[in-house]
Amino acid sequence: MLSSPVFRPLSGKKAGNGLVPFARGSVVALALVVLASAVTACKDRNYNAPGLSESTQRSTVLAPAPTPLATVAPESVDNRSAKGGLLASADEFNGTPEHPRFQLKSDYPLKPDFLTSSPPEPNMVVLRGADALAAKRASQEWLEAMQSYIYEDMNSQDTSNANANFRLADTAHEPASVSSKRWYHMPWLHTPGALAAKPGRGRDGIWGLTRELDMLTTSEANWPLITSSACMGTNWGIGFFNEPGGYAIGQVFPKGDLTFPEKGVFPKGTVSFKILFTSVTPSALPALEGAWTIEALVNGKGACGKASNSAREITPLRHIQMDVMMKWGDGPSDWIFGNYVFNKARKGDYWQGMEPLGVQFGVKQEQTIVTSPTFSANGFRGRLNGPADNPKASCFSCHARAQWPEPSFALLPFAPRNDADTVNICVLHEWGGEGPGKCRACGASGCLAEGKEPVFLGAVSLDYSLQFGLALRNRENAFSLAKALAGKAN
Ligand code: HEC
Repeated sequence: MLSSPVFRPLSGKKAGNGLVPFARGSVVALALVVLASAVTACKDRNYNAPGLSESTQRSTVLAPAPTPLATVAPESVDNRSAKGGLLASADEFNGTPEHPRFQLKSDYPLKPDFLTSSPPEPNMVVLRGADALAAKRASQEWLEAMQSYIYEDMNSQDTSNANANFRLADTAHEPASVSSKRWYHMPWLHTPGALAAKPGRGRDGIWGLTRELDMLTTSEANWPLITSSACMGTNWGIGFFNEPGGYAIGQVFPKGDLTFPEKGVFPKGTVSFKILFTSVTPSALPALEGAWTIEALVNGKGACGKASNSAREITPLRHIQMDVMMKWGDGPSDWIFGNYVFNKARKGDYWQGMEPLGVQFGVKQEQTIVTSPTFSANGFRGRLNGPADNPKASCFSCHARAQWPEPSFALLPFAPRNDADTVNICVLHEWGGEGPGKCRACGASGCLAEGKEPVFLGAVSLDYSLQFGLALRNRENAFSLAKALAGKAN
């Protein structure tokens, strides 16, 4: 049986509250845990990739021995320093009245006694019930109620300047009503990691957007379905967390240079939403005509693929999609995802034509409910995804993968490598006690019990937050960079 993993703190320090923080040494600890366990199949929340031999798993998780981090510049690695975790953007840009500089909201609640109203609850009994029509109606109602909850004091901050909306911690624009109390940002997303001199995929200086998957080719007829893998432009997004979400963020990234990934458990009532924008223009994709247009400091044109460090310039971006996720219960997988897509024909019905597409509350096909009368879902075999997402994956399957240390792509990619990729299809799309045959790689008993997440032996779940994973990775890279710089100075 797996016992609690052993984690070594950075520079040998122990946390004052008795919890042992994660550190670079955790990767090695993970390797040891895997080596030490005579793993059979799948265990509770911890999961051993099916279909891979034990030796493959060993060689993939083995990492180089950690080196002590003696002389790091403290400010640059402090979670709550404006030069460390709270650096809003690495862009050298002071902001102008038309393009105010992005400010990070990080006064995370210290206690779970929240001041703002709870978010609209989905009716899970109806959503899971046999009456498909009632389930669709309840999904639509929840999606519309979430739009009101999200937009309040966010989309109306400045009606004369699109770029002065969805602002937090920005005294010139943010009204001191709901938005200032309700929403927070994730720290550590400014950094491109080892290439700190260049902003890379990190937050832009105007909106705080981070770079997403490139926009793949679609056609007007197939909108919003992606039809081929050629790149049309870049996609950018910014996520927000409500009070319960902000509380969990503050627990994982307290003041100082330690992190506590195991505290990344969101309270019931957590909401995160993300607004997404694309550099693709209506001349390339007429379906985008009339979409809400903002300006951000990004590398849009011709920056497809790996050219993420090409120069950034002020670029018009169109609002293509909005994503939302909510922890509706206390169970480890009690999440519901929702998606909205720009529909130029529905501009009169929804703010900026953001039409609800549907919801997803589990990984199986029947756990997606499409509500849009126009569009179908863009995910794996009909599962929920928007046009800016990887069509071989789905909201729930990608996010269920959130854990620390992050699993390698070789072990568990975000999407199946091909149709025969039973490892990924089973783990990310079919888990939950499916019979043999349906889920061959998992073995006769099914791999993971209903309600559990595919979390590897020795790793901790990040409770469906992939921004947590990214932030933790960026912060590790910041340590490596600080160490390299300290080495140069000596
Ligand atoms: C291919 C994998 C993938 C798919 C599919 C996907 N996401 Fe994400 N999502 C990510 C990653 C990676 C991040 C973190 C980085 C970022 O914010 O860009 C993220 C971030 C988010 C966030 C910010 C909160 C957080 O910490 O994760 C929300 C909200 C979100 N996604 C919702 C959705 C919804 C809703 C869908 C489906 C419509 C979806 N995602 C589909 C990979 C995915």
